[in-house]
Amino acid sequence: MDAIRVIGGSPLNGTVRIHGAKNAALPLLAATAAIRGSFVLQNCPEILDIEITRKILDVLNIQTRRAGDALLVDSTRMQYAAIPRVLACRLRASVLFLGALTAAWEKAEVPYPGGDCFGSRPIDYHVQALHALGVSAQAEEDAVFAEGRPQSATVELPFPSVGATENALLAALGADGPVRIIGAAREPEIGCLCAFLSACGAKVRGIGTSCLTVTTGELHGAAFPILPDRIEAATYLCAAAATGGHLTLTGARAAHIRPVLDALQSAGCEIAEARGALTIEAGPLHAIPPVVTAPYPGFPTDIQPLLTAALLRADGVTVVEERVFRGRYRHIPALRAMGADLETAGQILRIRGVGHLHGTEAEATDLRGGAAMLIAALSAEGRSRIGAAQILERGYEALIPNLQAIGADVSEA
Ligand code: UD1
Repeated sequence: MDAIRVIGGSPLNGTVRIHGAKNAALPLLAATAAIRGSFVLQNCPEILDIEITRKILDVLNIQTRRAGDALLVDSTRMQYAAIPRVLACRLRASVLFLGALTAAWEKAEVPYPGGDCFGSRPIDYHVQALHALGVSAQAEEDAVFAEGRPQSATVELPFPSVGATENALLAALGADGPVRIIGAAREPEIGCLCAFLSACGAKVRGIGTSCLTVTTGELHGAAFPILPDRIEAATYLCAAAATGGHLTLTGARAAHIRPVLDALQSAGCEIAEARGALTIEAGPLHAIPPVVTAPYPGFPTDIQPLLTAALLRADGVTVVEERVFRGRYRHIPALRAMGADLETAGQILRIRGVGHLHGTEAEATDLRGGAAMLIAALSAEGRSRIGAAQILERGYEALIPNLQAIGADVSEA
């Protein structure tokens, strides 16, 4: 998909089924490179990042096959290989093969990962975690190399990095005794990886806390359901809020996006949870108290651009502070081109609500920034064209048909 054409101005109404979470599925796929077995990953989203990861698994002689919404993975004949640069550079989660390969083969060669560019995205915490486990890991000019058997040890993360926590968990599968991770990230996707590793025979204690202990055991394959995508859910909630719509999301978990629901409610949306579904009914929106992004359970950085897009026409001024990633405001010029009144000063963004937005032509800058442009375009009057739209295919399954089904005038351009 090269571009998305949008004719904005219609409220979104109807029901959307939330798919499995990209950021939960990717670490599980990396884990299958550390555990010999057959796996059934239920609710696995059909998105570009999963397709690229399947190609990485193929290089490791790990077979994957679709069966409805499940991905079947067979790693019984896995072989060692360096991760090819052409694949590693296309997504961030390729870095997770560092821990997985080290666990399985006591060595790894992983080129620097790709994914969205928010200024610098170092991997020093990942390397430090491997060092703490006694693995000799070295970041060279354009790849990371690891060698050695992980030892039973304590890893102390200086910041609750999602990827570094996942890499430490995966490397721990190759250790000769318990591995303790202090300062671990607590995102639901980490809980999902821990539960998956438990289903595969590892003992994981402290799930949901910042202190995890993993003891590897007789590891084997498993059937496992991937948790619903909280960022996809937030995208549709924010699109409903921006367009004054009324949506029901099935499969969404309110508990995973509490600060987002609080923000939308305080902006004037009515939100209800019942029997595994979330309903949002948007009215006229107004500004909300400052929003500050933070690791879980704080306000998610990935949802910051989406909420911004929802508040562009809210009455008053909302202040947003992005504290997780510098350079996460690359989509702002496109929103300004639609008539949004946005002012940035360092990591602070001031949103002054405007009466109306108008369509524009812009290029998607990154996955969630592109989704923010789409939300703004849906609430703008007239026609927009969002180019570089394949970026959105990295993380959203069935985006265009889903939006069409809830009344949006969108199509591939
Ligand atoms: C993951 C998510 C991404 C989300 C982010 C934060 C995936 C595939 N991606 O990314 O969607 O936005 O969590 O919730 O799951 N940092 C370092 N050194 C490191 C690692 C991280 O300085 O070695 C810094 C980063 O630059 C950033 C912060 O720590 O400022 C958080 O990054 P991290 O939690 O690691 O995010 P990712 O795992 O890359």
